[in-house]
Amino acid sequence: MKIMIINGPNLNLLGKREPEVYGSSTFADYFQELQQNYNSIDLEFYQSNIEGELIDKIQEVGFTYDGIILNAAAYTHTSIGIGDAVKAITTPVIEVHISNTFSRETFRHQSFISANAKGIIIGFGLKSYELALQAFL
Ligand code: DQA
Repeated sequence: MKIMIINGPNLNLLGKREPEVYGSSTFADYFQELQQNYNSIDLEFYQSNIEGELIDKIQEVGFTYDGIILNAAAYTHTSIGIGDAVKAITTPVIEVHISNTFSRETFRHQSFISANAKGIIIGFGLKSYELALQAFL
């Protein structure tokens, strides 16, 4: 099974960015743990702060991989382009968020991805990614 995790802007700062909201581990450490615990899965990880690069990656893997776990971060709430890319591909996408976006500012309540996602996992900290992985399994 081939699964790609795609993280959007500012998620490269996990560990030092607002730790009270996003926790204190880096994504690299968490990803290593995931790979060890799910070693039967071919698990990859991509991060970009650039909208077009995220769209390129979604298009690149979106017809051949078995699943995409997508945290588009702030672009979730603004990017029709990423929403359209999710709609255009055949690989199922699970939208994840570390924080509970519905308990935060109202601009975080809108998502351009949700309507075309297979499912949504929000608010379980980094564990949201593992729950998405289990959903694909
Ligand atoms: C986030 C929530 C977004 O609103 C925010 O812009 C992020 C991270 C999350 O995982 O909780 O950067 O996607």
